[in-house]
Amino acid sequence: MSTAIKAIGVIGAGQMGNGIAHVSALAGYEVFIHDLAEERVRKGLATIGGNLARQVHSGRITEEDRKAALARVKPAFGVDALGDCDLVIEAATEDEATKRKIFAGVCPALKPEAMLATNTSSISITRLASASDRPERFIGIHFMNPVPVMQLVELIRGIATGDETFEAAKAYVVALGKTSTVSEDFPGFIVNRILLPMINEAIYVLYEGVGSVDAIDTAMKLGANHPMGPLQLADFIGLDTCLSIMQVLYEGLADSKYRPCPLLVKYVEAGWLGRKTNRGFYDYRGEHPVPTR
Ligand code: CAA
Repeated sequence: MSTAIKAIGVIGAGQMGNGIAHVSALAGYEVFIHDLAEERVRKGLATIGGNLARQVHSGRITEEDRKAALARVKPAFGVDALGDCDLVIEAATEDEATKRKIFAGVCPALKPEAMLATNTSSISITRLASASDRPERFIGIHFMNPVPVMQLVELIRGIATGDETFEAAKAYVVALGKTSTVSEDFPGFIVNRILLPMINEAIYVLYEGVGSVDAIDTAMKLGANHPMGPLQLADFIGLDTCLSIMQVLYEGLADSKYRPCPLLVKYVEAGWLGRKTNRGFYDYRGEHPVPTR
């Protein structure tokens, strides 16, 4: 464990937040998990319990590891409960206004030396840091979904991020047993700058009638050895998040090649956001996922 960081706060108990809390607790950190509603915190804790049990079942961790990790994750129902944290990671919705509001609310509760990080998948770290009271102790720590499984963490420095903050974040990723890559602060960083245009292109391929949902996903799974097809992956990430990232790329890089596919917009407008709403490019309400087109 990094000597500088002992207690970690996670804001947002959704799929990314509970994953970050999970891996941090397993690595020995004290974790405080916060969300707007108590019920969401409880749901996040239940998911962590379920995913740890899954890892015991497959022999990746022991029963003792599971118990010890669970005991290290505590609910933080108000931001004041994050007051002892050395590092607080925001993992809320991919929406700049929401994130800015969170930083404005949480900063007064933090100790002055605490570091603040965002798990944003595309938004400018420099701009988000400016909404905090500590741009030199602010950094992008971008995890991949599912956090307990994926090896990579992207580190992104804002213009003001100090060397000490960067080194502490790097040490934290090592302590988690993961690998970091460093990206400059540009829209989408590295992974999503490359991954999301591929997913968006797959949606265009569907929109133009070049292939069906099944044909597109089978083509990329068997033809390019991707573990999931691009439409399956879009549903897994969340179509609202996919659209937000494409909009950040489109606006931030001002190039028409990043134009979000109108079909993606339509699915989001319908509230068909993928796995989390049980419907996206697949319908998950039955026993097996069924393509929706
Ligand atoms: N917690 C703990 N363990 C989990 C888990 C979770 N949430 N999800 C899956 N696992 C484990 C399973 O228990 C299983 O473990 P064992 O190998 O020890 O048995 C292992 O992961 C594989 O899972 P499954 O057998 O259930 O299924 P699979 O072989 O189809 O793999 C997958 C599932 C790992 C998700 C795989 O399909 C995959 O790698 N998909 C691509 C994921 C990807 O690209 N993620 C990046 C998304 S982009 C992103 O996150 C950035 C962004 O900002 C949008």
